[in-house]
Amino acid sequence: MVILTKKIILDCDPGHDDALALLLAVASPEIELKAVTTSAGNQTPEKTLNNAMRTLQLLGQTQIPVAGGNQTPLVKELETAGNVHGESGLDGAELPTPTFEVQPLTAIELMAKVLRESDEKVTLVVTGPMTNAALFLRVYPDLAKEKLAQIVFMGGAMGLGNWTPSVEFNIFVDPEAAKIVLNAGIPLVMAPLNVTHQAQILEDEIKQVGQIDNKVAKAFHGLLEFFGIYHKDPKWGFAGAPLHDPCTIAWLIDETLFETKKMNVDVETTGELTRGETVCDYYELTGKEKNTEVMLGIDRPRFIQLIMDSLRSFG
Ligand code: RIB
Ligand code: CA
Repeated sequence: MVILTKKIILDCDPGHDDALALLLAVASPEIELKAVTTSAGNQTPEKTLNNAMRTLQLLGQTQIPVAGGNQTPLVKELETAGNVHGESGLDGAELPTPTFEVQPLTAIELMAKVLRESDEKVTLVVTGPMTNAALFLRVYPDLAKEKLAQIVFMGGAMGLGNWTPSVEFNIFVDPEAAKIVLNAGIPLVMAPLNVTHQAQILEDEIKQVGQIDNKVAKAFHGLLEFFGIYHKDPKWGFAGAPLHDPCTIAWLIDETLFETKKMNVDVETTGELTRGETVCDYYELTGKEKNTEVMLGIDRPRFIQLIMDSLRSFG
């Protein structure tokens, strides 16, 4: 059977869940990871870049080109999430020192290079703030229109936020970038908190990860244990840790894992209390174009099975 692989660029801010998204992409025969670009978000730009390099080193993928991107959001000052991901941005495991070099390109230059060299359209996956994606769309609009198949992103929420009452972290960090991406006319697929909060990995499942006998799974056991700490706060009402970013790659691997609905999604950029809120027109009240396929439900057991199978594949 011929498997048609999907060529992707992953723009991320590792970040524990970003690292797991990287693992899913690398492990899947359905995905060809053409490049990794990094954004400032979960940690500083230096740390997220280093974390992407260390993760690919751990995964044995030092041939994949990596480039760092934005130093700050487009307008706001950078706010990071060391309280969630730790001082390094990827605390909880000893990760190998990279033996390969970062590309002598910026993130958007690497994106442009991959798209120019590709004979087919490429999917851009964004699992951090959307700064690099916005800059790419502004600097290379024709290339984006010609060679971007779609943008699949983790970000936003239809309702409750996780960083301010109605704002999710990735969009909080750079609302102006999200505004550019959501209004660029590129097909969009969104993994909001509504689905990622359902995509929890439970404590006993994290223990099962620790029982998988390979070095990658052992490292991710430590990473998931650390990532679980922040999410144990009873205010969240979680039974486990929400695996936000892996939802994007899981969608590309198997859309049947998700229930989705097409709707218009835009972002508030001026609200005193709501700057960064994604406004999802679920009931079609605006008459605006349904620009985004929004994931709203997930088959959690099958999602976890995909993660376990992916971890085992590194044996
Ligand atoms: O709100 C969750 C998102 O913010 C995830 O992408 C996580 O990695 C952080 O970037
Ligand atoms: Ca992220």
